[in-house]
Amino acid sequence: MSLVDRDRDVLWHPYTQMLTTPAPLAITHAEGVWLYTEDGRRILDGISSWWVNIHGHAHPKLNAALAAQADELEHVIFAGCTHRPAVELAERLIEILPKGLARVFYSDNGSTAVEVAIKLAVQYWRNLGEPDRRTFITLHNAYHGDTVGAMSASEESIFTRAFSNFLFPVERAGGLEDIERCLQTHSVAAVLIEPMLQGAGGMIVWPGEFVAGVRRLCDRYGTLMIADEVLTGFGRTGKMFACEHAAITPDIICLSKALTAGYLPLGVTATTASVYDAFLSDDRAKTFFHGHSYTANPLACAVALASLDLFRDEQVLERVARLERQLRDGFEPLRALGDVRAIGGVAAVELVSDKPGYLDGIGPRLAAAFLERGLLLRPLGNVVYFMPPYCITESETIWALEQIAAVLR
Ligand SMILES: Cc1ncc(COP(=O)(O)O)c(C=O)c1O
Repeated sequence: MSLVDRDRDVLWHPYTQMLTTPAPLAITHAEGVWLYTEDGRRILDGISSWWVNIHGHAHPKLNAALAAQADELEHVIFAGCTHRPAVELAERLIEILPKGLARVFYSDNGSTAVEVAIKLAVQYWRNLGEPDRRTFITLHNAYHGDTVGAMSASEESIFTRAFSNFLFPVERAGGLEDIERCLQTHSVAAVLIEPMLQGAGGMIVWPGEFVAGVRRLCDRYGTLMIADEVLTGFGRTGKMFACEHAAITPDIICLSKALTAGYLPLGVTATTASVYDAFLSDDRAKTFFHGHSYTANPLACAVALASLDLFRDEQVLERVARLERQLRDGFEPLRALGDVRAIGGVAAVELVSDKPGYLDGIGPRLAAAFLERGLLLRPLGNVVYFMPPYCITESETIWALEQIAAVLR
């Protein structure tokens, strides 16, 4: 029996209507930007395997770092123990993160990185004697993950509808004026945004001035700013972190996805000394009681360190800048079909549609057409985006852009 047949009998895939969705691709191995299937096809990974892969699949240096770490220490409990990869990674992150972020809390994926940020903000105010500060301001079209807190912070959508009775209320804003109005009328724990680029909400690009404006408002009204850089961190918007476009430091930043270059799940929630200090007390109730079995997994930390070495040694951000120029040129002619947006290593076209949104049936039809040409894309409804690993070559990019244009034509 093929893998696909065996899969059909026992598996349940994420974001997948198992009754109607076509059979999955059975991937046997991968290298660089290419995925190889059981039935002998070669397919370009045009979505960086759900936005995580940046240096390419099966990278020799990342593979070596992983293998070496496995020989040394695969995992150990992180409450009461520590280890070199966790310490070194925290040191290296603090060096490169926006200035002022000084403490690293590990978890194990993007949703938990956000969940930790939300819980930190709530308990921060409680520890300071302001437990009524519990409103979160988030943005329309936000997506912060699939756990209950992260879902609450996300835009109401088909993803969250079934759970709406179980989510906590948040104030949703469309811009700086809305945010300021909420800050004037509510006791706000934090403003949570995806800086520069809202991903799952439709690849919406924001100006740096908006991010700077959020920081200014949080300062003026004395509340916390949380930057969810789960998607944007590690170069995706052309800077190492999207907050750099606005030259600001959030009080809390969430990282995951490309943190380990697409190898292993790892989440980071980093914060300032002043947030951290609010948890220091003789009173044990002020402790941050949160953790996961795989917190600070050494294998994941070791690969993350090797990925940072690649950024340092191979001018990866220049590679992203080149990719951005190519994506902008390649998507420009698609303006005839809808709104075109690009930033760093991602470009998108929002096709004019009668039924815009995630459920626009054109998405799966387009995905099938791209796949037929050897390109793996997963349009968000009527938003077609291309987000390849940064290591994609110029000629591979040209080829992919040709396939996108041909299918959309
Ligand atoms: C901005 C943002 N935050 C959080 C998440 C959740 O990350 P994970 O899928 O690792 O739970 C995502 C995932 O797409 C994301 O794009």
